[in-house]
Amino acid sequence: MRSALHLCNFEKLASGSTFAGVIINRINYLISYNMLSKRSLVGVRLNFHTLAVLFFMLIGTQAFAADPAVVNSDEAIAAGKAVFNANCKTCHKLDQKMIGPALRGASERQPIEIVKAFIKNSQAVIASGNSYYNDLYKEYNNTIMISHEFLSDEDLNNLLSYIEYGDTVDPAAAAATTGADGGAVAAGGGIPNEYLTVILGVLVVVLLLILVVLGLIISVLTKYLTKQDLDVEDKEFVTQKTNLGKVFKSDMFVVIVTALVVALVAKTALDGLYSVGIQQGYAPEQPIAYSHALHAGTLEIECQYCHTGVEIGKSANIPSANICMNCHTHVQNVQGKEGVSPEIQKIYDAVDNNQPIEWVRVHNLPDLAYFNHSQHVVVGEVECQTCHGPIQEMEVVGQHSALTMGWCIDCHRQTEITTEGNAYYDKLVQLHTDSKDALKVKDIGGLECAKCHY
Ligand code: HEC
Ligand code: HEC
Ligand code: HEC
Ligand code: HEC
Ligand code: HEC
Ligand code: HEC
Repeated sequence: MRSALHLCNFEKLASGSTFAGVIINRINYLISYNMLSKRSLVGVRLNFHTLAVLFFMLIGTQAFAADPAVVNSDEAIAAGKAVFNANCKTCHKLDQKMIGPALRGASERQPIEIVKAFIKNSQAVIASGNSYYNDLYKEYNNTIMISHEFLSDEDLNNLLSYIEYGDTVDPAAAAATTGADGGAVAAGGGIPNEYLTVILGVLVVVLLLILVVLGLIISVLTKYLTKQDLDVEDKEFVTQKTNLGKVFKSDMFVVIVTALVVALVAKTALDGLYSVGIQQGYAPEQPIAYSHALHAGTLEIECQYCHTGVEIGKSANIPSANICMNCHTHVQNVQGKEGVSPEIQKIYDAVDNNQPIEWVRVHNLPDLAYFNHSQHVVVGEVECQTCHGPIQEMEVVGQHSALTMGWCIDCHRQTEITTEGNAYYDKLVQLHTDSKDALKVKDIGGLECAKCHY
C-alpha cells in the first residue's frame, strides 16, 4: 500500500523532467519487484527507501532551502523585527501559535512572491484560489489577516529575514530560564521554601526520636539502679521527681513570661498602627478572570498596549473593552476548547450592552498625594515591575509595594537620575560631580513637600 502510494506520487512527478523520469522508472521497477517477492527481498526494500529518501532530499534542497531571496544578515533581521513589532506582533509569534500561525518557515511553505503578496493583502491571495492559504484561512476560522499594502518590498524582505532567522531560541538558554522560573534556587541563590519545610520536618522527627531514646535509657537506668544496694542519699537522687509546679511558681518564670507577652502585644499593636491605610498585598477578585500571566507573560503583549496612559500622563488607564475586542473578536476561547469561553462572553456582553467592565481598583493613593506615571516611566525610566512587582506572572493583580510616603521618599533618596543626552541637566550634573556624589532624585526636588502634595 505504502509503496503504491509512492508510485503514484512519482508518476505525477515524472511527467516533468526526463532525468527524473529515468530515476522513477528505476524506482517503479524496484517497487514492482519488491511487491512481487515480499518476503525475501529485505535488501531491495531497504534500497528503495534509501533512494526515496535521497530523492526527496534532492527535491527539498532544490525547492526550499537556501532561497536567495531571504537574507540572513543582522541588519535585515533587526529592520524586520521593527516592522514585525509594529504590525504583526499582536497576532503572530515566530514559534508559537497565537491569533495567527507561528510564522517561522512561512517562506518555505509557499513561494516567496506569494508569501509577500499574502502579507500585503491576504484576502486577495485567498480569493485568487491559492489552496494552501484557503486551507489555512479555514483552519483559522476565517479570521481575516488585515492587509499591509503600505509595506515596501524592502520591508517585506526584511520581515521574511526576521521571520526565518530572527530571535532563534537557544535551547540551553530556554532551559535556564524555565529553571529559574521553576525554583527560587537559581534566582535567589537561597534554599526554596518547600525544601526548608521538609528539612525542618525531618529535624523535628529526629529530635523526637532522640527524646524517646533518651526516655528509654533513663527508665532502664533507673530500674537498674533501684535494684542496686545504694545508700539513702543516692537512692533519693535516683527516685526524685522533677517538681513542675515549683518551677511554674518561681519568680523568674513569672517575670520571663510577662515580659514575653508584653513584647508580643506591643509588636502586634505597632504593626497594626503602621499598616493603617496600607493595602500591600491587596488583590481583589475581578469581574472577569483576566490574567496578566497569560496576556503580559505568555503572549508578551506590551503593558502600553493596554495601559495607554503610562507614557503620556499621570494615569496609566485601565483598557476599555474595545482594546480587548481587537483580539477577542477572533479569539473566542483558549486553544483547544469548544465554543465561547464564559469569561470572554462577559467582554461581548459589556460591548453589546454598552456597559463598561467594572474592574475593581487595586492601587489607590489618597487624594492628598500626586503621582505621575509618565514622569517615572518616561523621564525616570523606572520599570513598571520596580513598583508593581512581577505583574507578568500574576493571575490576579495584587498591590506589590506599600505605596506609603516613606516608600516614595526612600526611592527618591537612592535613585540616580538618568541625565545622559538631556541637555537640561548638563549644568546640574557638572556642578554636582564637582562637589558631591551622583545626582539623585532628591537633589532635583524629589523630597519637596509640594512636588507630591497638592
Ligand atoms: C489581525 C491579526 C493579524 C495580523 C495583524 C497579522 N496577521 Fe498574519 N495571519 C493572521 C491569521 C489569522 C492568519 C491565518 C490565515 C488567515 O486566517 O488568513 C495569518 C497568516 C499569516 C501568514 C501565513 C502563515 C503560514 O503558516 O504560512 C503569514 C506569512 C503572515 N500571516 C504574516 C504576517 C505578517 C508579516 C504580518 C505583519 C506585517 C501579519 N501577518 C499580521 C492574522 C494576522
Ligand atoms: C491585554 C491588556 C493588558 C495588558 C497587556 C496589561 N494589562 Fe495591566 N491591566 C489590564 C486590565 C484589564 C486591568 C484591570 C483588571 C485587573 O486588575 O486585573 C489591569 C490592571 C493592572 C494593574 C492594577 C491596576 C489597579 O487597579 O490598581 C497594574 C498595576 C497593571 N495592570 C500593570 C500592568 C503591567 C506592568 C503590564 C505589563 C507587564 C500590564 N499591566 C499589561 C489589562 C492589561
Ligand atoms: C493581543 C491580543 C489580546 C488582547 C488585546 C486581549 N486578549 Fe485575552 N486572550 C488572547 C489570547 C490569544 C487568548 C487565548 C490564549 C490561549 O489560547 O491560551 C486570550 C485569553 C483570554 C481569556 C481566557 C479565557 C478562558 O476561558 O480562560 C480571558 C478571560 C481574556 N483573554 C480576557 C481579556 C480581556 C478582558 C482583555 C482586555 C482587557 C483581553 N483579553 C485582551 C489575546 C488577547
Ligand atoms: C514609580 C513607581 C511606579 C512605576 C514605575 C509604575 N507605576 Fe503604576 N502606579 C504607581 C502608583 C503609586 C499608582 C497609584 C496611583 C494613584 O492611585 O493615583 C499606580 C497605579 C497604576 C495603575 C492603576 C490605574 C492608575 O493609573 O491609577 C495601573 C494600571 C498602573 N499603575 C500600571 C503601570 C504600568 C503599566 C507601568 C509601567 C509602564 C507602571 N504602572 C509603572 C506606581 C508606579
Ligand atoms: C522606584 C523608584 C521611585 C519610586 C518608588 C517613586 N519615585 Fe518618584 N521619581 C523617581 C525618579 C527616578 C524620578 C526622577 C525623574 C526625573 O528624572 O525627572 C522621580 C521623580 C518624581 C517627581 C518629580 C520630582 C521633580 O522634582 O521633578 C515626583 C513629584 C515624584 N517622583 C513623586 C513620587 C511619588 C508621589 C511616589 C510615591 C507614590 C514616587 N514618586 C515613588 C523614582 C521613584
Ligand atoms: C515623593 C513624594 C512625597 C514627598 C516629597 C512628600 N510626601 Fe507626604 N505623602 C506622600 C504620599 C504618597 C502620601 C500618602 C501615603 C500614605 O497614605 O501613607 C503622603 C502622606 C503624607 C501625610 C499623611 C497624610 C495622612 O492622611 O496620613 C502627611 C502629613 C504628609 N505626607 C506630609 C508631607 C510633608 C510635610 C512633606 C515635606 C516635608 C511631604 N509630605 C513630602 C508623598 C510625598
